[in-house]
Amino acid sequence: MRKNQRFDTTCVHGHEYNDQKLGVFKVPIFVTSIFEQPERETGETRVTDRGTELKYSREENPTVRALEHSLAKLESAEDSLAFNSGMAAISTLYFSFLENGSKIIIPLESYSVTIQLAEELSKFGVKTEKVWPSTDKIIEAIDSNTKIVLLETITNPMLRVVDIDEISKACQERNIPLVIDNTFATPIIFKPLKHGAKVVVHSTTKYIAGHNDIVGGAIVTDKKTISENLWDWRRKLGNIMQPLEAFLALRGISTLSVRFEKISRNALEVAEFLKEHPRVLEVRYPGLKDDEYHSIANKLFEKDLYGGVVTFRVKDGREAIKVLRKVNIIKPAPSLGGVESLLTYPVISAAKLIAPEDRKRLGITEDVLRLSIGLEDVEDLKEDLDQALQ
Ligand SMILES: Cc1ncc(COP(=O)(O)O)c(C=O)c1O
Repeated sequence: MRKNQRFDTTCVHGHEYNDQKLGVFKVPIFVTSIFEQPERETGETRVTDRGTELKYSREENPTVRALEHSLAKLESAEDSLAFNSGMAAISTLYFSFLENGSKIIIPLESYSVTIQLAEELSKFGVKTEKVWPSTDKIIEAIDSNTKIVLLETITNPMLRVVDIDEISKACQERNIPLVIDNTFATPIIFKPLKHGAKVVVHSTTKYIAGHNDIVGGAIVTDKKTISENLWDWRRKLGNIMQPLEAFLALRGISTLSVRFEKISRNALEVAEFLKEHPRVLEVRYPGLKDDEYHSIANKLFEKDLYGGVVTFRVKDGREAIKVLRKVNIIKPAPSLGGVESLLTYPVISAAKLIAPEDRKRLGITEDVLRLSIGLEDVEDLKEDLDQALQ
């Protein structure tokens, strides 16, 4: 593999798999729980390229390892670990980094299960400080008990963007690891480690795998953090990704760049269309020039792309749920980042677990709908939204 190869080439070839004996360069799905141990001829233990033993698929599996190579390269990192869901990755991160007396800082508007799990760690003496999702408030909350700051690149569902450069500077001054959930942005437009973050997490369920057909997650960071801490927690928690899912995630990655670019362009066009629609009160999309978060997103994100999620407010709030029932091509379903366009009603899905008073303060009211744009023809999406809004 060439050094300094470009991003799109890494999407296709970053897994590094190449079986010279059979001439196979597609990554096989290694459906096996065990590996012969020790090697009969030499009597030696089999080891992976990170020095761990290859003996049992709860610890290491070659299909999963190929995905980990790919993810590490995409995020310009040394290594990664793949998990059987985004929440498995996040829970492993918590087990590994937090202890009795630690404080974790999470913005109020973050994936609700990420917040919920952190709050439930109070029974082990972990304190969760939920802060307003703004650069100043996050920095203000950092103190000597802070063990990690966990941010999402783009918040869900209101699509806020905080200044990760400023926050990362504040974290580095105090030697506190900054963790970025990069699910919404993907390394196509934002590479958190280049902006001073210590760890990146992903729900690979979304854009990384990209076809709404698997659930998976990943942690991407340096080799030392993985070997001293995270790898062993994954072994104990038993939440490694399974080989079929790893294969599908790898296949998804090979088209990540073209998918994300087309989806982002569709999203901008749909956002512009909705802004002009007489039944729409407000559109939120960081790619819109007059969006509150455009200037910061423009500073942080590459390629003039802003992702595939558009949030909008329907006039006369009670009608929002009706729009959900009327769409045809767009499907009413949770999740995001796949080839199908999906519409969700945040007050009963992503934001359901956020306390009602916090939800209101964040603007997640009954008139809000969140749209995850897919790969359909954008004219069909606009027509579908138009008839549903009418
Ligand atoms: C930003 C973000 N992080 C993490 C998760 C959890 O991922 P998973 O559903 O793969 O467990 C989600 C799920 O929607 C999410 O949106």
